[in-house]
Amino acid sequence: MRQLTIVILVLMGCNSLMAQKWEKIGDRPQMGWSTWNKFQGNISEDIIKGMADAMVASGLSEAGYQYINIDDCWHGQRDADGFIQCDPKKFPNGMKALADYVHAKGLKLGIYSDCGTGTCAGFPGSLGHEYQDALQYARWEIDYLKEDWCNTTNINAKGAYQLMSDALRAAGRPIFMSMCEWGGHKPWEWASEIGHSWRIGPDIWCNFDSTRVHPGGYADIGVMQCIRLCEPLRKYAAPGHWNDPDMLEVGNGMTVNEDRAHFAMWCMMASPLILGNDIRNMSQETMDILLNREMIAVDQDELGVQGLHHCDDQGLEFWFKPLKDGDWAMTILNATPKAVTYNLNWQRFNLTDDEVSKLSTNFDSQIYKVRNLWTHKDEGKTTVKDKVWKKVTIPSRDVVSFRLIKL
Ligand code: GLA
Repeated sequence: MRQLTIVILVLMGCNSLMAQKWEKIGDRPQMGWSTWNKFQGNISEDIIKGMADAMVASGLSEAGYQYINIDDCWHGQRDADGFIQCDPKKFPNGMKALADYVHAKGLKLGIYSDCGTGTCAGFPGSLGHEYQDALQYARWEIDYLKEDWCNTTNINAKGAYQLMSDALRAAGRPIFMSMCEWGGHKPWEWASEIGHSWRIGPDIWCNFDSTRVHPGGYADIGVMQCIRLCEPLRKYAAPGHWNDPDMLEVGNGMTVNEDRAHFAMWCMMASPLILGNDIRNMSQETMDILLNREMIAVDQDELGVQGLHHCDDQGLEFWFKPLKDGDWAMTILNATPKAVTYNLNWQRFNLTDDEVSKLSTNFDSQIYKVRNLWTHKDEGKTTVKDKVWKKVTIPSRDVVSFRLIKL
């Protein structure tokens, strides 16, 4: 009887261990690059290797970008035992060799699957093969899994993601789990112990402020639409589990102003920074945005608090994000079609983040040094008296971002 009790207790212990995601990864929003936005299905071993090379040569890896993620369309067939294989034409040397290549550069390799019978592009999904797939990824030494949500009729979302999370845990290799369920089942309410990030809406497209509806009825959304979906969810984001408003479109065709606003707002929202452009070939303007370490530090700040949309005035949006050591990031977003010149009066921005961090700005008694995060210049100090500090002009579809450094 005693032996039986011990066996049951041990099994219960295993069970609770199995029902956990991998901890100690995802303490900061993930940073990397993915094939999808630029290449869709036109991917190959050579492209992935080229991106790994460029990630290092461009300085992106030193700035914090570490994952090289292969999205949809890498799959071949399952073998006779049901183990998934990669497409031998696209990846002639196989996934393990590619992982070795990427690891030798000091980077990590990500892969993609789907909870359903097939991926969105029609390749084999993981349904019924979760433990086999997780084992295969571990054998290949994969570090990141994006798990999509196509072809999932009658599947319970929480159960499906929990199953894959358990399978990854059982396979024994720590893997970042990026859940791509598009928000239909409100993963922010149940996924914090299952995965490390969850998509909060439909796919982004390379557009600042409009929605593109496909003949099938589904839609892609612009930068502003992503922001609107993400902003009410800030209380669900924290170290270990993040809201994901989708991959970046910086460098894919928007204006430099729009790209800058897109990147700044992803940083303000502590969002994953997964690049979607061709990093082998970037303009100086694109590099200045993606390699802006002061802005990246806002995204990656150790408090891990998603920024808040404090107020609007004259068509401008005023966003604040509490940072370590009492600092705050502040971004003024101008999503309107015209430049706006604004008289900044700090007292207007006394606020307390009641919802998440409980931290306050206190412009009546606290003086902050004002650091411009895009010009990389100090612009003096905040003023404790109710007066105009200076006029700030924010171009159309652009931002001005400051770090307010507590003195
Ligand atoms: C879905 C996802 C995208 C991408 C494609 C691949 O649409 O939301 O991010 O992974 O599938 O087919």
